[in-house]
Amino acid sequence: MDVGGWLRSLGLGQYEALFRASEIDADILPELTDVDLEKLGVPLGHRKRLVRAISGLTAAETLAAPSAATGPKSQDAAERRQLTVMFCDLVGSTELSSRLDPEDYREVIGDYHRAVAAVVRSFDGFVAKYMGDGVLAYFGYPRAQEDDAERAIRAGLGVVDAVGRLDVKSTALQARVGIATGMVVVGDLVGEGSAQEQSVVGETPNLAARLQALAEPDAVVIGAGTRRLVGDLFEYRDLGAVEVKGIAGLVPAWQVLRPSVVASRFEALRGSSLTPLVGREEEIDLLLRRWGRTKAGDGQVVLISGEAGIGKSRLTAELEECLRAEPHLRLGYFCSPHRQDSALYPFIDQLGRAAGFVRNDPPATRLEKLEVLLARATAPELDVALLADLMSLPPSNCHPLPDLSPHRKKEKTLEALIRQLQGFTRQQPILMVFEDAHWIDPTSRELLDLTVDRVRTLPVLLIVTFRPEFQPPWIGQP
Ligand SMILES: Nc1ncnc2c1ncn2[C@@H]1O[C@H](COP(=O)(O)OP(=O)(O)OP(=O)(O)O)[C@@H](O)[C@H]1O
Ligand SMILES: [Mg+2]
Repeated sequence: MDVGGWLRSLGLGQYEALFRASEIDADILPELTDVDLEKLGVPLGHRKRLVRAISGLTAAETLAAPSAATGPKSQDAAERRQLTVMFCDLVGSTELSSRLDPEDYREVIGDYHRAVAAVVRSFDGFVAKYMGDGVLAYFGYPRAQEDDAERAIRAGLGVVDAVGRLDVKSTALQARVGIATGMVVVGDLVGEGSAQEQSVVGETPNLAARLQALAEPDAVVIGAGTRRLVGDLFEYRDLGAVEVKGIAGLVPAWQVLRPSVVASRFEALRGSSLTPLVGREEEIDLLLRRWGRTKAGDGQVVLISGEAGIGKSRLTAELEECLRAEPHLRLGYFCSPHRQDSALYPFIDQLGRAAGFVRNDPPATRLEKLEVLLARATAPELDVALLADLMSLPPSNCHPLPDLSPHRKKEKTLEALIRQLQGFTRQQPILMVFEDAHWIDPTSRELLDLTVDRVRTLPVLLIVTFRPEFQPPWIGQP
């Protein structure tokens, strides 16, 4: 859609240059709010007119022109592929529409649509269509990714949360979400108008809509195809087999409660029942030899690089199996594709697991658990304060946090984490597995650099796994 033409059609062509200068493209129009427009200096009357027009836009209209990457598709370029489809609905909208005056109702729906669209986009989803108060979104379009189903669920949970926090016309809002994954025929998605409606054909969108209808307010319900792809990444409530209109037989359904606390994506996605290991004797041999040197106090670093699914995690799991009978401490760090912007996420996550944090632990309990853990590593007071702060725990009188510049605080925190590792090596040799470094955040990367440097003289075997796109800086060291 041409934003300039759209503005002119509203009789507001004078803002064309302003919109262009502010880089407001068609695809972000639905997220524009009255506040944004006010910041741009648009007067009240025009803001109202724009907001009203924006809430009436359909997804097809706001689609940007196809980019070179996706390439224009012709009508007959229908394609069979797997897609995760999300359907989201506003609870009690009929009642709302009769209670509110039409103008207010439109505003409520507009805010709700924008909230859903913003969450969907933040998880790399594609808002395909607004249908009344329903929103249809695709994950895995235009490009399929390995974690489409997972992102759809995270988005679903995010939508419920975002809609719950909306406050329009002092009306509390709730959403329900249905998600299904399966084969669909994708037609001309970049088409307009009715072509858009025909674009995805198959049982999957229907199933997503039906699962949504089954969901309680504020719930996210998924079907079997999605469930298979996300393993134990989330906690679920089994809804059993349910009857859905338009689909023969009973279909299994699950309500997603929350992300789970399982440590590794490997365990969460592959489960505990592994088929027997094939080959890899040489690799295991090498790892065991390195472990032998590690135990003698000669720290080792092993990098395992390879394409997705080649068996990097499996190899480290096998080594752990081999070392089961030996005294050692195993520390697991897991990068996540969803936490690349979150400083030190793998370390924070590990510390929380090692300390035994559980959901809904009050901060005081967490602090106690952290103190117990750090006492084992004989950490100094300052380190306890810094690490408590890292874990977002409130400052305490026993170990106050000194006033440090952000830069100093980061340095001190990294040192504290290294010292903690060092403290643990006094008791046992350590197997430290750092998984999926291709998703590492910059601060963790700094800390990993320091760690690689420090383990030379510590009984630590550090194994780092990553895909080929990651360029490790530690190659060429002994
Ligand atoms: N040598 C092997 N023998 C038997 N099964 C294997 C072997 N290597 C890998 N597998 C199996 O293949 C699947 C993918 O392996 P794994 O998860 O270890 O890959 P990865 O390299 O860690 O991939 P990613 O980059 O996605 O983390 C797993 O189910 C694993 O158990
Ligand atoms: Mg892996």
